[in-house]
Amino acid sequence: MRPVEQTKIAVIGMGIMGPGIALEFSKAGYPVTGFDLNPDAVAAGEEIIDVTLTTLVETGHMTREEIKPVEERITYTDSLGPAVADAGIIIEAVSENRDVKKAVFREIDSHAPEKSMIWSNTSTLNIFEILPENRQAHTLIAHWFAPPHIVPLVEVVKGEKTASGTVETTVSMLKAMKKIPVVMEKYVPGFIINRILRNLGREAFFLLDNGYISKEDLDLAVKASIAPRMMVLGLIQRYDFTGLDLSARNLLDENFFDPPVDNTPAALHDNINAGHLGVKAGRGFYDYAGRDTTDILNDRDRYLLKVMDSLQFCLEKERLV
Ligand SMILES: NC(=O)c1ccc[n+]([C@@H]2O[C@H](COP(=O)([O-])OP(=O)(O)OC[C@H]3O[C@@H](n4cnc5c(N)ncnc54)[C@H](O)[C@@H]3O)[C@@H](O)[C@H]2O)c1
Repeated sequence: MRPVEQTKIAVIGMGIMGPGIALEFSKAGYPVTGFDLNPDAVAAGEEIIDVTLTTLVETGHMTREEIKPVEERITYTDSLGPAVADAGIIIEAVSENRDVKKAVFREIDSHAPEKSMIWSNTSTLNIFEILPENRQAHTLIAHWFAPPHIVPLVEVVKGEKTASGTVETTVSMLKAMKKIPVVMEKYVPGFIINRILRNLGREAFFLLDNGYISKEDLDLAVKASIAPRMMVLGLIQRYDFTGLDLSARNLLDENFFDPPVDNTPAALHDNINAGHLGVKAGRGFYDYAGRDTTDILNDRDRYLLKVMDSLQFCLEKERLV
C-alpha cells in the first residue's frame, strides 16, 4: 500500500454524505478533492466541513492546531476529470439513481487510472451491474452511515469480480482510519443495517398508523431499552441471554402477528403530503420551525459524539463472552 500522503482521494458528490467522508480521509492524512455537479453543493459541503471541525474542537476531539492541515488537505474542483485523474481511491457519493451513477462510472472510467479503486456509497443499488467491465476488479461498495465522521461502521460489499486485494486494502485502510468495516461476501439490497431498519420501520409505522402509541413514547421506549442493550449485546448475542428455546417459542406464538406489508404507510405519507419532509424542510414527524438546519445537525453531532465516547468500550471487545 502506498503511504497515506501519496494516495489521493476523489469524492464525487458533495451532498449529505460526501463532505463527512472527505473529512474522514483528510483527518487520516490523505489529500482529498471534492467534486459536485452543483456548485451550491460544493459551497455547502465546505461549510459543513468547517462547522464540523469547529464542533470537534469545541467538544475536545481535536485541537485548533490540528484542524488547519485537515482543512488544507481538502481542495474542491468544478469538473470530474481533474478530481479523478491521479486519484488512488474514488468515492462515488452521487444521488441514489441508477442512471446518474451509471453515467458517473462511465465518466470516471474515461478519466481515472485503470488501477484506481472505486468505493461506491450506494445504499441499495447493485452497482456491479452498471459498472464498466474493466473496473469490476477494483470496485466495491463501501457504505458509510450518516453522519460519516461520527458513525464508525462501513459496510464493505464485494461484487462477484471484486479482487480479494481490493477488499483487503479497503479493510486495512478503514481500520487505520479508526472506522469499523464489516465485509459482506455478496450483494443483497440494503446490505445489513438498512435491511434491519426497513423491518423496524415497518413495525413502527404499523404501531403509529393504528394508534397504539405516540411517536414520542415510541422513540422513548426504543432509547430506554433496545438501543443501549444493543450496544452491549448486538442483535444476535441477545438471544443467548433470552434463551434460544424461549426465542423459538416466541416466534411460533399464534397470538402474535406481523404487520401487514404496507409500503405506503399513512404515518409517512400524511406528513409527505403536508410538505413535512424532515429536518431539511423544518418539519417532519417533529417540528423544527425557526431553527437553522446546520444548528440542528450540529446538536445531533454533539449528542452522538458524547454517546460514542461513552460507549466506545462496547466496540473494543467484540463479544461479551
Ligand atoms: N443520506 C444518507 O443518510 C446516506 C447514508 C448512506 C449512504 N447514502 C448514499 O450515499 C449517496 C449520496 O447520498 P446523499 O444523501 O449524500 O445524497 P444527496 O442527494 O444529499 O447528494 C448527492 C449529490 O450528488 C450530486 N450529483 C448528482 N449527479 C452528479 C454527477 N453526475 N456528478 C457529481 N455530482 C453529482 C448532487 O448534486 C448532490 O449534491 C447515495 O448513493 C445514498 O444512497 C446516503
